[in-house]
Amino acid sequence: MLSFQNSETQQQIRDIARSFANEQIAPSSIERDIKAEFPTEIIKQIGELGFLGMNVPEKWDGSGLDNISQCAVIEEFARVDASVSVIVSVQKLVNSVLVKSGSDIVKEKYLKPLARGEMLGAYCLSEPGVGSDARGITTMAIDKGNYYLVNGSKNWITTGSKAGVFLVFAQTNPELKHKGITAFLMDSNSEGVEIGLKEDKMGLRGSDTVSLSFANVKVPKENLVGKIGEGFYIAMKGLSGGRIGIASQALGIAKGAFELSVKYASERETMGVPINRHQAIQIKLAQMSMKISAAELLIQKAAWMEDNGQDITRQSSEAKLFASTIANDITREAVQIHGGYGYVREYLVERFMRDAKITEIYEGTSEIQHIVIAREVIKDAE
Ligand code: CAA
Repeated sequence: MLSFQNSETQQQIRDIARSFANEQIAPSSIERDIKAEFPTEIIKQIGELGFLGMNVPEKWDGSGLDNISQCAVIEEFARVDASVSVIVSVQKLVNSVLVKSGSDIVKEKYLKPLARGEMLGAYCLSEPGVGSDARGITTMAIDKGNYYLVNGSKNWITTGSKAGVFLVFAQTNPELKHKGITAFLMDSNSEGVEIGLKEDKMGLRGSDTVSLSFANVKVPKENLVGKIGEGFYIAMKGLSGGRIGIASQALGIAKGAFELSVKYASERETMGVPINRHQAIQIKLAQMSMKISAAELLIQKAAWMEDNGQDITRQSSEAKLFASTIANDITREAVQIHGGYGYVREYLVERFMRDAKITEIYEGTSEIQHIVIAREVIKDAE
């Protein structure tokens, strides 16, 4: 049965993540946003805490946390700095694919260092002309006997210039369309890999987003993930799980902005009273609180279902769609509650508003989430 009471272990993990977020991530968050600086030292410490391998079984050097705890960790990091949380969420996404579909060789060679936090991974699906229409991948991998020769380019790659390994989805047989897509692991220092300039983004400025190009990159056959032609299914399944991570990130952003708003509304006075005495502000706080509670439930449900071995394609899309929508509503209202102060960096909420936007775009836009949900609803009814 789905429980609303976290277990002692789940609560302990949330507490560890929260303390780390407050003490180690929050103090430098403004500076990283201004300088668009990757949180190298913080990510190293997160790795040491075991949070870069939280969805990896202990057998493969991970910490084997349940999904409810994984969501809590991402949420707590996003509560203070969404850039840090996305790095953790993408690592979880890459790890999840290797746990499910990686051979023992791949697990030994890549999953273990990823899980120990010694290496970062990047999920290389999108291309300059391929985003929502993931089946249109044009990056080619040609079988050359004991290796594949990979040519093409990838776009919007989170952690792309920092990753030790890329999980690349490439076409091995264009005639078969999506059934010709295959997943590979590529060492980021392979000859022929070129890393593009870091994108100058509106939000999430501490995370690393680059394009990648591959010119005759040799990928050893043993780096195949799953079977030839399974790549599209692997990518989609991976994203079904990954989307709860982004939902948790969106929830964390919403909570961070809400907490700041509640505090500000109790301190700031107008017309002789704290602004939280004005009904206009109370309505905003009530709406924020309700939306956060609803997003929490959707995420909790999807995480619980995944922990119980159920398919979460519909639930993770519902959680992501809802949480990203409310994160945008709440951060916009947080700026409004703060008035002029909300529009300056020092009060943080303007960054939360900028950071929230991407949650409606990556790991499937809100429009794509609607499609995924509707297809599942129709499938269930048939
Ligand atoms: N699990 C398993 N199989 C799935 C699946 C899932 N979740 N979703 C689809 N499939 C299967 C289908 O059953 C179908 O199988 P058959 O070949 O047997 O018919 C096959 O895959 C093709 O599926 P569709 O017919 O549904 O394909 P489509 O092209 O019509 O639609 C889509 C697919 C839902 C639109 C998909 O392309 C999609 O999700 N697009 C968004 C891509 C995305 O999220 N990109 C994010 C990039 S990664 C990122 O952002 C990470 C980061 O850095 C933060």
